[in-house]
Amino acid sequence: MVTIRVPATTANIGPGYDSQGMALNLYNTFTFEKKDVEVDERNLIYRSFKYLYEKNNLKAPYVEIKVSTEIPMSRGLGSSASCIIAGLMAANEMSGLKLDKKEILKYATDIEGHPDNVAPALFGGHITSIVNKQVYYSRKEVNNNYKLYVLVPDFELRTVEAREVVKKEVKLEDAVSNIARATLISDALYNGDFELLKGAAEDKLHEPYRKNLINDYDYFKKICENNNAVLFISGAGPSLLVITTKDNSSISTVLKESNNSEFNWKVYELEVDIE
Ligand code: HSE
Repeated sequence: MVTIRVPATTANIGPGYDSQGMALNLYNTFTFEKKDVEVDERNLIYRSFKYLYEKNNLKAPYVEIKVSTEIPMSRGLGSSASCIIAGLMAANEMSGLKLDKKEILKYATDIEGHPDNVAPALFGGHITSIVNKQVYYSRKEVNNNYKLYVLVPDFELRTVEAREVVKKEVKLEDAVSNIARATLISDALYNGDFELLKGAAEDKLHEPYRKNLINDYDYFKKICENNNAVLFISGAGPSLLVITTKDNSSISTVLKESNNSEFNWKVYELEVDIE
């Protein structure tokens, strides 16, 4: 039997659309056991498992898969990425192929389409990544000056829907703004400069469109602005990522006490998973 534990991830971090993500300390744990059982071939975990075998000209065995979940599903916290990584990692172990994680990342990106969730799910920490024939990435630790919260509502948002509203063509000035801000956010996460993070937080490519799909976005945005915290849409949403400093003692209470909306937002206080 093989057990694989995969962390939640929060992708984009504002201006880093489709290219940045962080691993968080909420986990899905998967067990795989070879058994002659009927397998649902559409299941993302099994599809990923089989993908690795087939790409290496091997026949995938039937397996029984059990999952214990902490990561909320369809909420922009990388639950699909966790299934992909688990399937690939289990296949890597059970097949005896022993591919390194860089190769696993390539397969995971082929399946997911973009590496911003699967890369931190695999390596932990904060990762910037691109695809240019292969996947190039840079992994950094996140400074422990920060405190992270994730707000999770009781409604789902399908990633396809949240991607459809994003404009396919952008203004040059918006592209320039995002390039600079994504770079600064990456630096600020690493060096702990919260003022820099705050100053660079505005995204021009996806949040202006997606916020309309997320009830209470403006409400929580205002609360964060008034309490020295920065708010981003987590991945494709609808969860929201809040970043503030360790010494901001009031924000946790403010977030919990402001939460009287009909959408029953759950407040998670989380840390970056460093694998
Ligand atoms: N970067 C992706 C998005 C994450 O924002 O749509 C979800 O897969």
